[in-house]
Amino acid sequence: MKKILIINGPNLNLLGEREDKIYGKETLAQIEKKCIEKAYKCNLKIDFYQSNNEGEIIDKMHEVDISYDGIIINPAAFTHTSIAILDCLRSIKKPKIEIHLSNIYSREDYRKKSITSEGVNGLICGFGANSYILGIEAINKLIYT
Ligand code: DQA
Repeated sequence: MKKILIINGPNLNLLGEREDKIYGKETLAQIEKKCIEKAYKCNLKIDFYQSNNEGEIIDKMHEVDISYDGIIINPAAFTHTSIAILDCLRSIKKPKIEIHLSNIYSREDYRKKSITSEGVNGLICGFGANSYILGIEAINKLIYT
């Protein structure tokens, strides 16, 4: 079975209680459960990871080409700041999808630029927790076609 890594950046551990009008009421654990169910239907196994630390996220990303068949990443606020995560994404040879719960292009100007998306195959945003499910469908197509 193919295996993908889903990485969640800073403050996403607070989902459910953090700005729920923007990010929804679901917790990260509830989203993880839905992702596992969706992945199972797509014949994919997932590892779900969250960190508030840029270096830890990059260390985890370094495992992708060795141990995984693709990566889905919600870099959270690092989306708008991190050349280090962009460089790391560029180094990964496996399929890569960036996702966001909110539509970053309809929000504050400083969120309208995604630095990290320059290193991925495609970006999905604005569908709430469903962005994760759509991300799994998208990476499934990239892996199996
Ligand atoms: C986010 C959007 C980012 O701008 C923000 O910093 C987040 C969450 C999203 O999923 O909508 O933390 O990545």
